[in-house]
Amino acid sequence: MLEVQAVDAFYESSQILHKVSITIRAGERVAVIGRNGAGKSTLLKSIMNAGPRTEGVVAWEGTALADLPPFRRARLGIQLVPEDRRVYGHLTVAENIRMGTHAAPAGRKGLPPEEVIARIPMLGPIARRFGNQISGGQQQMVAIARAVASRPRLMLLDEPTEGLAPAIVERLAEDVRAVSTGDDTALLLCEQNLWFARTTTDRVYVIDAGTIVFDGDWAAFEERNDIKQRYLAV
Ligand SMILES: Nc1ncnc2c1ncn2[C@@H]1O[C@H](COP(=O)(O)OP(=O)(O)OP(=O)(O)O)[C@@H](O)[C@H]1O
Ligand SMILES: [Mg+2]
Repeated sequence: MLEVQAVDAFYESSQILHKVSITIRAGERVAVIGRNGAGKSTLLKSIMNAGPRTEGVVAWEGTALADLPPFRRARLGIQLVPEDRRVYGHLTVAENIRMGTHAAPAGRKGLPPEEVIARIPMLGPIARRFGNQISGGQQQMVAIARAVASRPRLMLLDEPTEGLAPAIVERLAEDVRAVSTGDDTALLLCEQNLWFARTTTDRVYVIDAGTIVFDGDWAAFEERNDIKQRYLAV
């Protein structure tokens, strides 16, 4: 469904990604893990064409996207939930989610907020609160719910656990699993939290200094203490 082939990414003259290649098939759940500054967000922005200048190929269903702008990529069904969440403070939780409902890709119908809220237990009690009256963890869930409401074919999640307490991370994992299993939504998750990545995805890429240094399922990853020690803070 998504193919990233030998992508280089640059900010001004500094090269951040080096020949990065990843593949995601329909409905698959895949993690990219790596330390601060490894290039995770740059990879997701490169997939959306939202920020860095890129070389190489990002292809969707076999067609290179070339310079297709971000909003057109969203119309194809690729939704990014960025690190900074961007929940609107002056809208209620339900209204924030409804913005996703109206952003469904071509040929698909968005989910009404009530339906998304019913799938994500954390949101029920706060549906009528304003975006600026909820906690950081709740905002993260709203940002994810808004993406879910748009019924993406591929959801890109950028470090959803950042800054969250362990108990909230556990609930977030349950919710992410609930919205990314069964349905025909694939997931590409960038994370530093190994536990979260392992519990919400099926396989993993490790990125370091803008290069993919491991690619395999979680069982194969488990056997690679060298990779964990060298490239991750574990
Ligand atoms: N807008 C920008 N302009 C210039 N350099 C940038 C910009 N954004 C990121 N970088 C640099 O690109 C490199 C990769 O950053 P990126 O944000 O992709 O890392 P990351 O893996 O997402 O890290 P984190 O886990 O801290 O979010 C870093 O060296 C960073 O300083
Ligand atoms: Mg990042």
